[in-house]
Amino acid sequence: MTLLTYLIAITTFFIGIFLGYTISKKEDKIRSKQVWSRVQRRNIMRTINALVSAIDFKDHLTRNHSDSVKHYACVIAKKMGMPDKEIAGLKEACKVHDLGKIGVHDNILTKPDKLTEEEYKEIKLHSLAGAVILKPFHFLDKVVKMVRQHHERYDGKGYPDGLKGEKICLSARIMAVADSFEAMTTDRTYRKRMSLEAAIDELKKYKGTQFDPAVVDVFIKLLKEEPEILKQSGEQNNA
Ligand SMILES: [Fe+2]
Repeated sequence: MTLLTYLIAITTFFIGIFLGYTISKKEDKIRSKQVWSRVQRRNIMRTINALVSAIDFKDHLTRNHSDSVKHYACVIAKKMGMPDKEIAGLKEACKVHDLGKIGVHDNILTKPDKLTEEEYKEIKLHSLAGAVILKPFHFLDKVVKMVRQHHERYDGKGYPDGLKGEKICLSARIMAVADSFEAMTTDRTYRKRMSLEAAIDELKKYKGTQFDPAVVDVFIKLLKEEPEILKQSGEQNNA
């Protein structure tokens, strides 16, 4: 075999590998977009929602938490002019935002006393765990991002990635406010609910540090001008 023939053979071999790799990557991409039919997506979401309800039911005080977070997040998003398509994704993310708590021990989730450092570390894993559980469902990519980011803080001191300001997607910044407000205004095993006024004061206090100031401003204005958006404890939401 001459040197030239040898070089041609080697080059052809590597071009073959490169083309094979590119085609298989392309096929993966197409498959990831096409593999889920509308019926499959609906059934997967129903299954995930059932799992979330099971987690909420572990503690009777948080039974409607995900629905209430969805309710508050949607009214804020609508007021901020978020397009309907994005609001649909936000609704799905709110419903499943605490899915990762499936891996947290019940005695931590329902502990009436202050959590130890170790227990708090375990709780903090839930946003990342939720994102990992949902990741294989490619049609939920945006939901995965929102679930992962729902405990990020505007000042960058949140978790799991310490993202700051607008590096956190708007939907997650809205979820953070809705989630905290819902938690503050409902009873928990470790404390009684706050009054509306006290919860509004907390939002103001952490505006710009924990929370996006623009989201807090919109929500406080809504609570004052449209008090009917306030959910009663235990109320079901089908929005
Ligand atoms: Fe959470």
